[in-house]
Amino acid sequence: AAAPREHFASRLGFILISAGCAIGLGNVWRFPYIAGEYGGAAFILLYLVFLVILGLPVMVMEFAVGRASQRSGALAFDVLQPSRRWHWFSWWGYVGCMLLMMFYTTVCGWMLAYTAKMATGTFVGLDPEGVGGVFGAMLANPSEMVGWMLAVIVIGFFVCSFGLQKGVERITKIMMICLLAVMGLLVVRSVTLPGAAEGLAFYLVPDFGKMFDGGMAGFGEAVYAAMGQAFFTLSLGISAMEVFGSRIGKQNSLTGEALRICGLDTLVAILAGLIIFPACFAFAVAPDSGPSLVFITLPSVFEQMPLGQLWGTLFFVFMSFAALSTIIAVFENLITFTMEKWDLSRRDAIKRTAILVTVLSLPCALGFNLWAGVTVPGIGDIQSIEDFIVSNNLLPLGSLLYVMFCVTRKGWGWNNFLAEADAGNGMKFPRWARGWLTFGLPALIIIIFIMGYVPKIMLWCGLA
Ligand code: PHE
Ligand code: NA
Repeated sequence: AAAPREHFASRLGFILISAGCAIGLGNVWRFPYIAGEYGGAAFILLYLVFLVILGLPVMVMEFAVGRASQRSGALAFDVLQPSRRWHWFSWWGYVGCMLLMMFYTTVCGWMLAYTAKMATGTFVGLDPEGVGGVFGAMLANPSEMVGWMLAVIVIGFFVCSFGLQKGVERITKIMMICLLAVMGLLVVRSVTLPGAAEGLAFYLVPDFGKMFDGGMAGFGEAVYAAMGQAFFTLSLGISAMEVFGSRIGKQNSLTGEALRICGLDTLVAILAGLIIFPACFAFAVAPDSGPSLVFITLPSVFEQMPLGQLWGTLFFVFMSFAALSTIIAVFENLITFTMEKWDLSRRDAIKRTAILVTVLSLPCALGFNLWAGVTVPGIGDIQSIEDFIVSNNLLPLGSLLYVMFCVTRKGWGWNNFLAEADAGNGMKFPRWARGWLTFGLPALIIIIFIMGYVPKIMLWCGLA
């Protein structure tokens, strides 16, 4: 018989690792720039609605599948399904997590690079107007980019090599607690800057008119972005959270645990904006500069701030911890999948996964050099293409499939799901949500999914 499955040492460990997987670039990089682009508070409200009606139930479902099967996404569907129909779904999670890592390692590498450059004062003289500056020079330097990407991969697998409790759980716990502490400091610094009030107003006072700046099409775009962000930020649809459910017992109800994790994730996203926007307005730099907000706009803010080098370093430490905790969690997921699917030891699974992640991360790390000009219209460069495949396709459709698995009789079924979700102390899954989950949610995901493709297809067909 197999050895008993290793569980987390503590409930706090489970919550902080799941939160560590959820809290990442999605919170500290993507959320602020998307919120900035779509006008701040009104967009945030829309996003919160999606978080509750789409994200939360899917998170409970992933945990329930993991806890009931006590397996990672590799074998969970074989254990729970009534027929072999769902067998193939295990690959969805593996491919999704792998594709995510293919660009996440590179962006996390930028974070480490910025931390190092801030700490050593290399940022002095950055020109916020030109896309050049340190960012441009760094991206154009292939050996430097690959070096940072490799550093991320080595750190991630090094932590995982100490095992679940001694490596992943211990290190992530420390990282998450530091992250929350540093975040607190940065928020206080930012909101007390002279001139911060305007930034607070932009960020926190909803202006619903702004969402319609681009007419109905503009509003559709905001809805699409809000849904995508809800799935991305909670790490849903590719069995990333599922594996952590497979590492806990039945002491606590899963709805209660999911609420805590969503709460932490949302807290970090909202507070990241509370760091960024007051600082932007205090130093009169554009809050809606898109993906470059954190990499180009903010460094120029730190440059003008008293003790800017210290605050800049702390800020990128904060960003790096968020990104690294996600890297560690997803590596752990890929390792567990590999151990189960191919019946390998942890050691062998780490070797195999590390090689694969390294090779597959190269195209993105080298993207700015090898194929700097290669872009897909309406999507973008290699990093955006990989991001698009995962965030706009695998996450929403995978979430939809999780829902189908948990509510229909062709899958695991509503009663089995409910019994698992409700086992333990704490909040029970609302019974009345069944109709919504069976009909409303799938329809909503499909409509928004198709809506998101319409402008792209029009562009590709030369109609826009
Ligand atoms: N939730 C992570 C973030 O916000 C990204 C992620 C998505 C991680 C899907 C795992 C799976 O950065
Ligand atoms: Na997140």
